Amino acid sequence: PHLLLLNGPNLNLLGTREPDLYGSQTLVEIEEICRAHASSQDAELTAFQSNSEGALIDALQDAPDGVILNAGAYTHTSVALRDAIASIAAPVVEIHISNVHAREDFRHRSLIAPVALGQISGFGIGSYLLAIDALLRHLRQ
Ligand code: DQA
Repeated sequence: PHLLLLNGPNLNLLGTREPDLYGSQTLVEIEEICRAHASSQDAELTAFQSNSEGALIDALQDAPDGVILNAGAYTHTSVALRDAIASIAAPVVEIHISNVHAREDFRHRSLIAPVALGQISGFGIGSYLLAIDALLRHLRQ
């Protein structure tokens, strides 16, 4: 299968952005780790990041077999992203590096969780790898 790793707003700053919360690896490093992890399971992975809601929606509409999505703060605000996920056939796994449920109240609500295959939150960079495993397991089931 072909997977899309999609990262939303401010995740281009990983490595320097609030490292206590999000770790010290850069997005490029994370994308490379994810590509290798997918490849070890005979899957292809394409990575894309944007700070723009519209560009994320365009990417979802063009999604390959499945999507790993860290929508950043749009998780908590974007009806448009939720509608995009509901409109496509490809399953989407929602991920967060931090445990959003252990943080501010406004991060407890996800508008995309109800239309996602599932949500993985709080495992650091491991959230991405768990999502790849979950998605491949689902697609191969
Ligand atoms: C995040 C959690 C969001 O609440 C936040 O706005 C982010 C990152 C995470 O990966 O932990 O930008 O999605």
